[in-house]
Amino acid sequence: MKELSLHLLDLVQNSVEAGAKDIYIEMKKDLINKKLMLRIKDNGKGIPPEMLEELKNPFFTTRKTRKVGLGIPLFWELIRNCDGSLEIKSEVGKGTEIIAEVPYHCIDLPPLGDLPGTILSIIATNPDLNFSFRFEKNGDVFDFSTIELKKELGEVPINSLEVISFLKKYLYEHLGGW
Ligand SMILES: Nc1ncnc2c1ncn2[C@@H]1O[C@H](COP(=O)(O)OP(=O)(O)OP(=O)(O)O)[C@@H](O)[C@H]1O
Ligand SMILES: [Mg+2]
Repeated sequence: MKELSLHLLDLVQNSVEAGAKDIYIEMKKDLINKKLMLRIKDNGKGIPPEMLEELKNPFFTTRKTRKVGLGIPLFWELIRNCDGSLEIKSEVGKGTEIIAEVPYHCIDLPPLGDLPGTILSIIATNPDLNFSFRFEKNGDVFDFSTIELKKELGEVPINSLEVISFLKKYLYEHLGGW
């Protein structure tokens, strides 16, 4: 079974491939409504309306005729199996926003997997992009932005060994309990 953080990685990869320069990632564990929310917003090239329709109705299209890949349809299937919701908003030339909500007690929900490690690899493999993160669990918020970090780093590259090992510690400290 695939881990949720690998779906996150897939979705972020879509944003990167769409040429986004700024990517916002939000995750929220809502204890009251027992829901897990994931939001990814980018300023990439956007999804043309006909493709958006196809992505929204993966079961109306057969595999043979589908021109798009499997990342979103697989994610969609997972969300659907758990009676969750998935919203994709996109405007060509502006960007894309994906909001998923799913009950976290769903028996078919895969484990989260290595969230801090996933975030770390997203940052390390895309040093030129700006990422902002917001993680909220039980009202506790952990905000983090590579824009701020880069300002503090000055000339030191964000994917240099010492920064990566600092980030690794920092992210495991804050996200290890997810
Ligand atoms: N954030 C995004 N911005 C622009 N286009 C997107 C975005 N996310 C998805 N798309 C478009 O939707 C298509 C389908 O995405 P999906 O993740 O399902 O498949 P893929 O990325 O093409 O292949 P795979 O994920 O299987 O490697 C993409 O090929 C891309 O054209
Ligand atoms: Mg993809």
